[in-house]
This record gives sequence, C-alpha cells and structure tokens, in this order.
Amino acid sequence: MEFINLGSTTLAAQYVAIELLRQIQSNKRSKLGLATGGTMEPVYAQLVQLIQSNPVDLSEIQTFNLDEYYELDTESKQSYLYYMKHHLFNHIDIRPEQYNFPNNDSVQLEADNEAYDRLIMQDHPINLQLLGIGTNGHIGFNEPGTPFDSNTRMVELTNETIQANARYFDSIEEVPTKAVTMGIRSIIKSHRIILLATGEKKKPIMQQLFQMKYPDEVIPASVLIHHPNVLVVTDDAASPY
Ligand code: GLP
Repeated sequence: MEFINLGSTTLAAQYVAIELLRQIQSNKRSKLGLATGGTMEPVYAQLVQLIQSNPVDLSEIQTFNLDEYYELDTESKQSYLYYMKHHLFNHIDIRPEQYNFPNNDSVQLEADNEAYDRLIMQDHPINLQLLGIGTNGHIGFNEPGTPFDSNTRMVELTNETIQANARYFDSIEEVPTKAVTMGIRSIIKSHRIILLATGEKKKPIMQQLFQMKYPDEVIPASVLIHHPNVLVVTDDAASPY
C-alpha cells in the first residue's frame, strides 16, 4: 500500500477528486467504484467543481456503488442512492443507466447479487475504486470476519457500524440492521484503489492497519496489503504516523 498524508481534510479530498477526474479524462469508458459516508462528501463537492471547469466526457463512464441499506426505500434521504444523487449525480451530466447499485430488496436478491458481480466484471474490471473505512476496518459493508473471497451479498451490520451511522437517522432504532454490499472479491479485482480516511476517529484503525504485515480477515481493509495498486490518503488527524 502506498501512503500519503495531505495534512488538511480539504486537500486530501481535493487530491482524491483530482484522481477521479484524471481517471475519467484518461479513459472515457472508465468504470468507477464509488463509496458513500461523510468522508466522501467533500470529495464529491470538489469533483463537481472540477467537472464543471474542465473538459471531460462523462457520457460513457459507468459507476458502481459499494453498498445500500437492505430494504430501505431508495427514495428516502438515508439511502445511498439518494446520497449519490444529492452529492454528485444531480450536479453532473450522467444518465441513470450509467450508475449502478446493488439491489436492496428481497425479491430475487441472490440472482441480482450475482448479476451485480457479473456487471462489475463485464468487459473489464473497475478502473478506480474509491474506499472509505469504518472505525472497525470495514470496507463497503464488509464487516470484520468477512471472508476475502466474499461476493456481493446481504450482510448484518455490527453494533459499531449501526452506532456510527445513527447520525443520519432520527433515532438509532431507525438504522437498518442489514445491508447489501459489494464483496471483497469484487473490490480487490479493481485495477486501482484509493482509500481515503480523514478525522481523528479513523486514526486508531489506520494505526492498526499500517502495523499489519499480512492481511487478516479480522480487519477487512487489510486485504489491500497485497493488492498491487493501492493508495491510502489521509489528513493529519487520521494519519497513522
Ligand atoms: C459506511 C459505509 C462505508 C464507509 C464507512 C465510513 O458505513 N458503508 O462505505 O466507507 O462507513 O463512513 P464515514 O466516511 O462516514 O466515516
């Protein structure tokens, strides 16, 4: 894993946004793997600005989001589809058929999960996968203990994750306890991965991750240790050093 601490949160987000723009400019058929969460909000704000002020053709890109809450109405403000529309898709020239999410309803769930994995790999893998990290080391909603060969599937969220995400809901009882997430197998097939961690809450997990020599399923993000093209970006507060 390569590593860079960019000091400020703004600069870290700006850097990741520039990398996303450069990826699209270098290949107009890019497949992008996208993440949600508070960490990514400034990234998408910067990306919208960069797209508005630079020549870039978005008409053939495809995006694949990591996860969605299980059986949450995708129109609701807490859904990740809503998040992506609100922070990115509504502000750029992209058609709904270009962005993809795991299906989050029970009808045909298994068949749809397999179809999502096939779609991710169709023609070529994801060119650039963006990742955040949970305080317990989760990536997407792949919680600690997830086998590294896992595919897209429904998962139970840990209490730590439910608590961390409760800030987006009126009460903790409203936080879904299940989600559908891209599996670790699909994530690590991406050509290139950028993991962004900002803020002091992420420092302990970053320290733990950077002390590890070998991947261990106890910390899902440690699967990245053996991936050939991973960049971890932090601000001062989240830096492991
Ligand atoms: C969420 C998402 C992850 C995200 C992580 C960190 O639960 N499923 O994809 O990376 O937790 O979120 P935040 O950036 O808000 O700390």
